[in-house]
Amino acid sequence: MPSETPEESSPRVVLGVAGGIAAYKAVEVLRRLRESGFSVTPVLTRDATRFVAPLTFTALAGERARVSLYDDPSTPIPHTRLGQSADVVVVVPTTAHLIARLAAGLADDLLTATILATRAPVLLCPAMHTEMWEQPSVQENLSTLRRRGVMVLEPADGPLAGGDSGPGRLADPAEIAELTTRIVRGYRGPLSGVRVLVSAGGTRESIDPVRVITNRSSGRQGHALATVAARLGAEVTLVTASDLDVALDVARSVRVVRVVSASEMREAVLDRLDSCDVVIMAAAIADFTVPRSEHKLKKADGVPHLELSPTPDVLSEIRERRRPDQIVVGFAAESRDVLANATAKLERKGVDLLVVNDVTVPGAGFEAVTNEVTLLSPTESPTSIARQSKEGVALEVLTRVAVMRERGDR
Ligand code: CTP
Repeated sequence: MPSETPEESSPRVVLGVAGGIAAYKAVEVLRRLRESGFSVTPVLTRDATRFVAPLTFTALAGERARVSLYDDPSTPIPHTRLGQSADVVVVVPTTAHLIARLAAGLADDLLTATILATRAPVLLCPAMHTEMWEQPSVQENLSTLRRRGVMVLEPADGPLAGGDSGPGRLADPAEIAELTTRIVRGYRGPLSGVRVLVSAGGTRESIDPVRVITNRSSGRQGHALATVAARLGAEVTLVTASDLDVALDVARSVRVVRVVSASEMREAVLDRLDSCDVVIMAAAIADFTVPRSEHKLKKADGVPHLELSPTPDVLSEIRERRRPDQIVVGFAAESRDVLANATAKLERKGVDLLVVNDVTVPGAGFEAVTNEVTLLSPTESPTSIARQSKEGVALEVLTRVAVMRERGDR
């Protein structure tokens, strides 16, 4: 009979198993994790037991596979104990139903209760038919979970149960076991531990207590960059001038600093410059400001003459003060001669990557929920990023940043 008390000192993996045909592959993941020296507690949903017997997991884990919140005579609160003792929770396979239960915060069985009760990293490995995988409900639930910091190992494209083929096949068990091992060692994604500073939103220059000069930036692209960077493992600070509730939408781990004017934005960004590895200037910072009148300008006093004065260019100051190992990403909002203007801006601003927006294209740039951009860099040919969600564009930009860091471009 296997021992009930595995090695106390070895890292502990809670291996969740949900009810899908790929449940049998969780056995292989368990075997590999045990070979790597981890203590593994298998936690099966009721439906998982229809596919693979708990005894199979018990025998390989060297400890009893758990199925219920109520079947452990040693403790009335097994979920808390499991959640607190876990170094990582990995769920193989993760079904559409489990994804929905987790997104809703349900705790109606031992696995969901354990995931709610843990502060350990959680890795979901979904597997399902392509039709289910591509459902907006499934993808939206996954986005919610990712925003909360849950990691997702995307399914592969390949043969599925029933003879079909397409995206939805469980990732390779060897890959799942290897990623789990890396997570135990501190890996949180391609930007693991990288300190990223993102500026976002359109700044507002006060004319008087009532009126402002601003621009059409919503902050959505910058906020998406902050959220996706956090998902990729970065430690993110978002300096935002957005007055929309999109600020509330950023990942929970993102530190949010709210600013209003160009000068507040400048100060907030430059104050934090030394303590970041990557700076992404997505903010639409006012180029001109006005002296602020203490009191509301009255109509009776006639049409006011506003004398605009230039604001400092924050990127130019970053250029002067940056460390050689920092990566600086700028944005360019253009409405004509887009590539020519942006190429000149790339040089003028001294950035490592310029994300170029043609603001005249419908479904891109300011106010839109989607975006379509070109990436310019001093060393590579331009890359067009097709129209997609601002989170999708953020992923493209940040993947490029991760590659630049890996290559040691900076
Ligand atoms: N930017 C900045 N400080 C400013 C204005 C802009 O740091 N005072 C940054 C933006 O955050 C962006 C980049 O510079 O990353 C380009 O902004 P954009 O508005 O496209 O260009 P401008 O520098 O304002 O030049 P122009 O208005 O002539 O296009």
